[in-house]
Amino acid sequence: MTAAELMKRLAHLAADRYRPSGRFAYYFARGKFAGDPVFAALLARDLIPEGARLLDLGCGQGLLAAWLDAARASHRAGQWAQSWPAPPRLSAFRGIELMPRDVERARRALGALAQIECADIRSAAYGEADVVIILDVLHYMDPSAQQQVLQRVRSSIGPAGVLLLRVGNAAGGWRFRMSRWVDAAVLYLRGHRQERLYCRTLPAWSAALTDCGFSAQAIPMSAGTLFANVLLVATPR
Ligand SMILES: C[S@@+](CC[C@H](N)C(=O)[O-])C[C@H]1O[C@@H](n2cnc3c(N)ncnc32)[C@H](O)[C@@H]1O
Repeated sequence: MTAAELMKRLAHLAADRYRPSGRFAYYFARGKFAGDPVFAALLARDLIPEGARLLDLGCGQGLLAAWLDAARASHRAGQWAQSWPAPPRLSAFRGIELMPRDVERARRALGALAQIECADIRSAAYGEADVVIILDVLHYMDPSAQQQVLQRVRSSIGPAGVLLLRVGNAAGGWRFRMSRWVDAAVLYLRGHRQERLYCRTLPAWSAALTDCGFSAQAIPMSAGTLFANVLLVATPR
């Protein structure tokens, strides 16, 4: 099976979990799985180690847990891309999300697969994790809260842990402006009334990570989209 065929299969499998939550949840999931390059990259680049305890901060409707489970199921069924490593088996998946409606959708879709808490990541306890993932969330909070979250993530992962942080690059020109516009539209549809976003350039995000005890490698994460997104793979220094 080619990687493109596998992507289609996983998008279909993972999105199906959202059918009971209604059309918006289902089509939103379909669109994200089909169009957001981060889902393929996490698998193809082997970014999540086998047996990891994964913590997803600002997990939304829990797409990542649904995606990783679809990957495991497909791999078990012998449907996998030859060029990709085997998908990771997780030992735990925890998500923390602010919006009750998203939490409800995540819980309905994932059941016992994941533990989803309705809380603010600025104050919620993180516990211990091997991988923390934050996709498109930190720009909703001011720089001092961003810094505190990163410091607390650093304390929650061991020396071999990893933080996967996806951000927009504020120096990304029209692509960055496009991502802000789409972000605002999606926020509105999901019931947020956020007035301000706190974005940074890529060097400023890297500096924030360095300040919090990480070294980071940036991977462009906009292939096939109109956005200026980057995935920072940050490990303790
Ligand atoms: C753009 S969505 C991304 C959702 C998810 N990470 C994904 O990639 O599908 C941003 C999410 O962050 C959540 N969020 C924003 N601020 C938060 C906070 N302080 N605590 C918890 N969740 C937060 C929002 O409610 C929203 O679900």
